[in-house]
Amino acid sequence: MRMTAVHAQTEQMRQDRSARCAEKHRLRSRTVPLRGLIRPVPAPCAFAGATRGAESLSRGRIQGIQALERFSTWGMSVCEDHMKTGSELPSTPVQQLVNGEVREIDLAARSAGRTMVLVSVPGAFTPTCSDQHVPGFIREAQAFRDAGADEIVILAASDFFVVKAWSDQLKPPETVQFMADGSQKFARAAGQILDLTDLGLGLRSQRSAAVIRDGKVAWSAIEPDATAVTITSSEVVLSQLQRK
Ligand code: BEZ
Repeated sequence: MRMTAVHAQTEQMRQDRSARCAEKHRLRSRTVPLRGLIRPVPAPCAFAGATRGAESLSRGRIQGIQALERFSTWGMSVCEDHMKTGSELPSTPVQQLVNGEVREIDLAARSAGRTMVLVSVPGAFTPTCSDQHVPGFIREAQAFRDAGADEIVILAASDFFVVKAWSDQLKPPETVQFMADGSQKFARAAGQILDLTDLGLGLRSQRSAAVIRDGKVAWSAIEPDATAVTITSSEVVLSQLQRK
């Protein structure tokens, strides 16, 4: 009788251990993709522009992009978009670091009586932003001027120090201004928060583009996948601008 009780107790302990082990494996297998993802991503994100042409790091960047492609649906939460045609642009200020001072800028007021192209991106220095999205707006800045845009604002969901460094690196002309939405207050007001917490990037902004006339949205588009540039490219925005 006593032996049976001991046996039952031992068996119970074995089952408990086995359940704990199974749970540990389950958790571990859930974290593997994240670890695989996070490792390659920081290099391309942080140095996308700076490492152009560097063979070993560009391989890292490719890995990063492939990893992002695999996980690109993670956290891509689309909030209610308040940037529809005819909407007022939110007055929530964005920031810009100029000569060591932080300026608070109300984009709605700034666009009064003017035409502004507003390009919102998930962050400064990300591969898609640095390599595919923003360069077109810099290259075509004069064409945008000719089509009636007084200004192009590149709004990144990164802090103003980082956005300043990004702008210094890309050297845009005067009509292309880089601004920061570091706490995503504007993105929230615009209904364009992108939750990339699972990627280790925190809350960001959707990738979008809009033509703003006199404080109102005249046209806008949001990328369904923030890691790609399709309907918000400089070509598409320029053609919209030339239409109206
Ligand atoms: C990008 O390369 O712009 C990007 C990276 C991660 C998440 C979203 C966008």
